[in-house]
Amino acid sequence: MMITILTLFPGLFDGFLTSSILARAIARELVTVKPVDIRDYAKDRHRVCDDAAYGGGPGMVMKAEPIAAALEANGGPGRRVVYLTPAGRLYTQALASELAREEELVLLCGRYEGVDQRVIDAFVTDEISIGDYVLSGGEVAAMVVVDSIARLIPGVITGDSLEEESFASGLLEYPHYTRPEVFRGASVPEVLLSGHHEKIRQWRLMKSIEKTRKLRPELLESDSLPVEARELLGKIRREGVEHERNQGA
Ligand code: 6GU
Repeated sequence: MMITILTLFPGLFDGFLTSSILARAIARELVTVKPVDIRDYAKDRHRVCDDAAYGGGPGMVMKAEPIAAALEANGGPGRRVVYLTPAGRLYTQALASELAREEELVLLCGRYEGVDQRVIDAFVTDEISIGDYVLSGGEVAAMVVVDSIARLIPGVITGDSLEEESFASGLLEYPHYTRPEVFRGASVPEVLLSGHHEKIRQWRLMKSIEKTRKLRPELLESDSLPVEARELLGKIRREGVEHERNQGA
């Protein structure tokens, strides 16, 4: 997969692209990530990429010409062009899976008040936000998108860890423990030392459901919840009602 990132701050991606899982995926040529400096496509002597907004108001707008020139110089038509903006649709694991199947992607990082609407109308296929808070620019969001997509590309992550992860099942992940067996008086749950794989699996599923119920109850309303999880959830809810009745609630 080829990912082109259009940005006014290409240097922000240096450490990100040269560390950990992503660096290895790039070295193995499973993914190519190319930050492109939009400023290189500004034609005037001062390479200006922003200007005041028509209609007035505070802040600057990213100019159309440099972005259009950068898009046209980096890849042809037919590919998805994703504009990272707090005014976009919410990014989810489902959208990550969809984008991971593309051969080629362009990520356009907004800065200031955003980009000239005519660039969006002419080139952008997707407007994406990574959450309901405001960042200084789309670069950090682009890293989120690249990271989440890269790890879904076949071969980037080995073993079963992908299927086990949060959201793969629609539930939050169960707690993890490693040595030592006792840390400052706190013991590892007995069942994890038992070697009883089926009991461990059931315990983890129960912990996942309990945690999801506490922190992200809306995830439990999904139609894609695995049958076993749905049944366990029903049992927990019935027992909860029973418990409350016994407490005189
Ligand atoms: Cl994609 N950009 C900016 N500037 N802020 C955001 C965002 C994107 N997603 C959430 N907040």
